[in-house]
Amino acid sequence: MSNLPPFVVLLLPLTALLQPTLAAYAYTSTSNETPKDNSADCDCYVVQSGAQSKTPEYFQYYRFYDFRNLPGAMSDTPPQVNDTQIAGMQPTWQPNLFDSDAWKYDWGIQNWSKDATEDFPTPMNNSVANVYLGQDDSTSYLALRTARQEEYQTSAEIENQQKNLMHVSMRMYGRVQGAKGAVAGFFTFYDDDNESDIEILTDDPTDQIRYTNQPSVGKDGNEVTAASFGPTDLAPWDEWQTHRIDWLPKNSYWYLNQNQVAANTYSVPRKQSFLVLNMWSDGGEWSGNMTVGDSAEFHVQWIEMTFNTSGPYDGGERQRNEKRDGGLFARKGKGCKTVCKIDDVKQLGTPEVVHSGAMGMGISWGLLVVVGLVSVVVGY
Ligand SMILES: *[C@@H]1O[C@H](CO)[C@@H](O)[C@H](O)[C@H]1NC(C)=O
Ligand SMILES: *[C@@H]1O[C@H](CO)[C@@H](O)[C@H](O)[C@H]1NC(C)=O
Ligand SMILES: *[C@@H]1O[C@H](CO)[C@@H](O)[C@H](O)[C@H]1NC(C)=O
Ligand SMILES: *[C@@H]1O[C@H](CO)[C@@H](O)[C@H](O)[C@H]1NC(C)=O
Ligand SMILES: *[C@@H]1O[C@H](CO)[C@@H](O)[C@H](O)[C@H]1NC(C)=O
Ligand SMILES: *[C@@H]1O[C@H](CO)[C@@H](O)[C@H](O)[C@H]1NC(C)=O
Repeated sequence: MSNLPPFVVLLLPLTALLQPTLAAYAYTSTSNETPKDNSADCDCYVVQSGAQSKTPEYFQYYRFYDFRNLPGAMSDTPPQVNDTQIAGMQPTWQPNLFDSDAWKYDWGIQNWSKDATEDFPTPMNNSVANVYLGQDDSTSYLALRTARQEEYQTSAEIENQQKNLMHVSMRMYGRVQGAKGAVAGFFTFYDDDNESDIEILTDDPTDQIRYTNQPSVGKDGNEVTAASFGPTDLAPWDEWQTHRIDWLPKNSYWYLNQNQVAANTYSVPRKQSFLVLNMWSDGGEWSGNMTVGDSAEFHVQWIEMTFNTSGPYDGGERQRNEKRDGGLFARKGKGCKTVCKIDDVKQLGTPEVVHSGAMGMGISWGLLVVVGLVSVVVGY
């Protein structure tokens, strides 16, 4: 230090102090029920979907949730919720983030629990204390944890508040680490019969992921083989990967790092749904048992989704509004003048225009297929 010119000596502690605050921005919500994040000029968003990722699909809204540069990340895993505590009553470790209005506008952290049954012998209690902001080098991430106590399993679940998704292409950059006997879930949910899942089982080898449309168990109690695929030879889930579900009107497609790895037409959800992330175990056949004292974590750096909606934001009054919304959209006859892409963009989370209606003439949604195909051919 003493060899450095005096002004550098002065600067060093200053930058050390300033760097973390410069890099970190508080969690913000767009607080918008019809979001077009970082892309106010886009009328719709195109993604390449389908079996060969060559079929353009269009959506009206876009949301990007970024957990990478948030302040106050913990460098050590917080202590486990233990047998002497009531899991559902534990407070958050980071109230500045998880009790903020912005967070609560977007997410609901769950604290429900379920009792043991014959098939699922470990009682499971969700806890707010199992959801926290961790960090890897200087990048923060959202962490969901599950841990096994003597008497029960503590788990974590967050629900997105946009409860009126009606078809979505959603992506998550995440990894799963820790003990066997846990399940990390990233899925759309309405009820047990309208649910499309990505599930990472820590009992599985790290090159296998489960892709399921529920129900995966029939009324007779038997497994429905058509419901679930578990491809292997995939990029390892204990390292950061981009996971994606495309829920379309008649098809479900799943991707890993933009490669299609599963497809299904069985029980494609038909009801307006919402995004859920969880990390859990209940001692059943699917999750397996976790060893007492062990834990596993699901880490997420960002989530991106482009979607259509049906009915109100909170998912309520479903029946009444379903038809009216379609009608409104049709009456407005706005079409899609400015088409944006969300993949292969310069900055992740910032959609880019691929087509703009010439001389203010809008194109109808029906014509978009042509635009999309042309975009593929000319590579945008
Ligand atoms: C989204 O909504 C628009 C407008 O109604 C429609 O043209 C488009 O096909 C929808 N996208 C999907 C994937 O259903
Ligand atoms: C349970 O956790 C609380 C809070 O972390 C801690 O104060 C307490 O000592 C723990 N109890 C046991 C038995 O580990
Ligand atoms: C777990 O939840 C049940 C309610 O289903 C409750 O009776 C029990 O006390 C909870 N246990 C813990 C340790 O939080
Ligand atoms: C969930 O948390 C709320 C407070 O935020 C509390 O009133 C409620 O009792 C908790 N539920 C359970 C099952 O512990
Ligand atoms: C979705 O929910 C409806 C109403 O609960 C149900 O009739 C239907 O079987 C469910 N699943 C699918 C794939 O539509
Ligand atoms: C989990 O452990 C319980 C209690 O030992 C046992 O009854 C159950 O069969 C185990 N589950 C699995 C999937 O092995």
